[in-house]
Amino acid sequence: MPRVRLSGCVRGVDSPLAAHRRRPGIGLIVERERVSLPDGQIGQIGQMGQIGQVGPDADAFFMAEALSLAASTPVRPWPNPPVGAVVVRGGRIVGRGAHHGPGTPHAEVLALREAGDLASGATLYVTLEPCNHTGRTPPCAPSVAESGVTRVVVAMRDPNPQVKGGGCRFLREHGLVVNIGTGAAAALELVWPFAVTDGFKRPFVELKTATSLDGRFAPPAARRSLVAPVYLTSEAARRQVHGRRRWSDAVVVGEGTAVADRPLLDGRLVAGDTGVPGTEPVAVYLDTDLSWTGGLGRSPFMVIAGERARTSPNLAAIRAAGGEVVFAAESEGRLDLAAVLAALHGRGLSALMFEGGPVLSSALLAAGLVDRWRQFVAPVALGDGVGWPAVAPVAGAGTFTLTRTGTAGPDALLVHDRLSFAAKLDQVSR
Ligand SMILES: NC(=O)c1ccc[n+]([C@@H]2O[C@H](COP(=O)([O-])OP(=O)(O)OC[C@H]3O[C@@H](n4cnc5c(N)ncnc54)[C@H](OP(=O)(O)O)[C@@H]3O)[C@@H](O)[C@H]2O)c1
Repeated sequence: MPRVRLSGCVRGVDSPLAAHRRRPGIGLIVERERVSLPDGQIGQIGQMGQIGQVGPDADAFFMAEALSLAASTPVRPWPNPPVGAVVVRGGRIVGRGAHHGPGTPHAEVLALREAGDLASGATLYVTLEPCNHTGRTPPCAPSVAESGVTRVVVAMRDPNPQVKGGGCRFLREHGLVVNIGTGAAAALELVWPFAVTDGFKRPFVELKTATSLDGRFAPPAARRSLVAPVYLTSEAARRQVHGRRRWSDAVVVGEGTAVADRPLLDGRLVAGDTGVPGTEPVAVYLDTDLSWTGGLGRSPFMVIAGERARTSPNLAAIRAAGGEVVFAAESEGRLDLAAVLAALHGRGLSALMFEGGPVLSSALLAAGLVDRWRQFVAPVALGDGVGWPAVAPVAGAGTFTLTRTGTAGPDALLVHDRLSFAAKLDQVSR
């Protein structure tokens, strides 16, 4: 995965970095001066501090460790947010914890448990405000208040406006010093799908497109090999995409892409990497009339078809090839995309990545269903080939704010969000 570079240095044999290097199996990503996170285009978090020092530099360093723990989840934590925590006393990490999803302990509880008596007088670093409400697990804020820690550094407040501030307020009322905002951008990036959808009350939709400089998705059929897939973008870009797939519950394409590419829609390029969950997403394609029986490059897979296909003669062949067929409502002769999202959400697939061709991509944009658009642009002009449909998306439906620009090898990357990342960051970081 791409890495976020921290500047500065750490001295001392017992530095947490040295400790981490002695324990490679822990799955952290901190290595010398670098930290990698699920999305590498976050920018600089801050400076490392000298061990034993208290202050913004040390806070940035220890928060980077907590963020690395959060990102190192072995499974996707959705619908819960990934969270990491460390307890620091006398400049040393004495407790670590990460939350791995519903039903598993919260990060700060695990870190405090590991710290034990050493929590007394220590500082807790946690990537998300400790909760102060009872969900599947008891609230964390009272446990933190009772643990003996005297200071809590929180990267970001709870993004849900209803609970915003509750945990921090509780801790302050119980005499703890609470500082908010260290590493906030990286923390928000990590939980963005959770934050945008108010805890997955609806699915999160990320659209990925990869085009040439002149906006083509693929060369004309006559210029394509029938055996080898066409990749417009570099391996560096595809590694980023594979990382995002691992953070997605399902990856969805249209029938056009299923037929042209029979894609695997998995995260094989990042298998075993730190900072990406180990589990693969569900591979899905949309085929209103269930006309394609060739499936995808891997099995099992899911097909979403229109109601008209309930009696299709192709059902048996698709099921025999490992396809689960799900039916959804139609609109104007094609699948109703809102119904498609609802069908996936109803099956517990909430973090969605769409990687279709121009037909499906433009339909999603026109319907105003895209939360984040990750747009790779390869440094090539094709002059001809598969381009955007002539009908433009409905004005205003696809309006975004630019969150960041970056590169992936020779390719350019633009990340746009429907909800302003900067505005949300401002809301959660103070
Ligand atoms: N560069 C890239 O990032 C990239 C990515 C993917 C594909 N491609 C290329 O793009 C080409 C395929 O383009 P494409 O646009 O045909 O593929 P697509 O967008 O993946 O598939 C389009 C098909 O999806 C189905 N669909 C079902 N419901 C839909 C809805 N509500 N709105 C839109 N489509 C719906 C339609 O088939 P039914 O009417 O039968 O349901 C439609 O023809 C290939 O050459 C492929 O290699 C490039």
